Amino acid sequence: MDSEYAKIPGMAKEKRAAFGKELNAKKQKLLEEIEAAEAAVLNVAASPIDITAPCGVNEELPKLMTWADGSRHPLMVELDRVCEIYARMGFDVVESRQLDDEFHMFESLNFPDGHPARDGYDSFRTEEGLIPPAHTSTMQHRVLLAGREKLLAGGEIAVVIPGRVFRNEDVDATHEHTFYQVEGVFVSRDATLGQMMGVLREFFQTYYGQELKIRTQPGYFPFTEPSLEFSIEKPASLGGKGDGWLEMLGCGMIHPNVLKMAGIDPAKYRGFAWGGGIERLVMLKYGLTDIRDFESGKLRFLREFK
Ligand code: DAH
Repeated sequence: MDSEYAKIPGMAKEKRAAFGKELNAKKQKLLEEIEAAEAAVLNVAASPIDITAPCGVNEELPKLMTWADGSRHPLMVELDRVCEIYARMGFDVVESRQLDDEFHMFESLNFPDGHPARDGYDSFRTEEGLIPPAHTSTMQHRVLLAGREKLLAGGEIAVVIPGRVFRNEDVDATHEHTFYQVEGVFVSRDATLGQMMGVLREFFQTYYGQELKIRTQPGYFPFTEPSLEFSIEKPASLGGKGDGWLEMLGCGMIHPNVLKMAGIDPAKYRGFAWGGGIERLVMLKYGLTDIRDFESGKLRFLREFK
């Protein structure tokens, strides 16, 4: 357009007016076309079928998002808090893996081939036969092996293992196929269930910031003997009316076979272990009712935690 206007000074005088007028009309037409195209784009973005629009149909289009609009996922923030509490008690933190094998999922945990308890840990499988782990206990064998020398030299094994786990579940408000757990493993010459109860009580009281009653019931896991289910009393500040217990995790004394498989002599050393879900812990803390919100990617949910 500018180069067209630049021709005007070099033209014969009588032609200039008509040429200028024609150019102005063209320019006006182009401007109108641009405006119409812009309006069309805005209309599309606000239509109900644009699932990528970051706002509702009748809301104003927001400015482009920048990194400052984002935030860490609430589960990651809470996982850090959980690990920090254990770290202050002297536990190392080791992350679990999201793909594991048959040996770590079952054999190393004293589930021999064909053991019926395998059915309780129905996860997925890759074509190569690898397993997205159904619990963080798959890491027990590895942390026992890694801590063995320290133990033999007179030290202790004290590790917590946060990780993402996967189950072949029907999903509803309280069940997810993908969720997080934290596992704990402690081994020394004289570890006891009493010490375990002390560690767990301390953890839950610190996490919820209040005194809590705790309770255990007999349970069953192939990798612990005895096996327990650990509950806390639902405290008033979390909506309890003195009327119930909430089961928070599974635990017990590490089975002698599990120690033996990692080269640790069960006649000389004892250990306890525990493992439980993080979502439930967090839902209780914030009064959340639908576990599916965590993996939903819903901005409205995530923004509540900014
Ligand atoms: N892995 C068990 C589960 O997901 C929980 C568990 C129970 C972990 C006992 C432990 C344990 O370490 O000792 O159901």
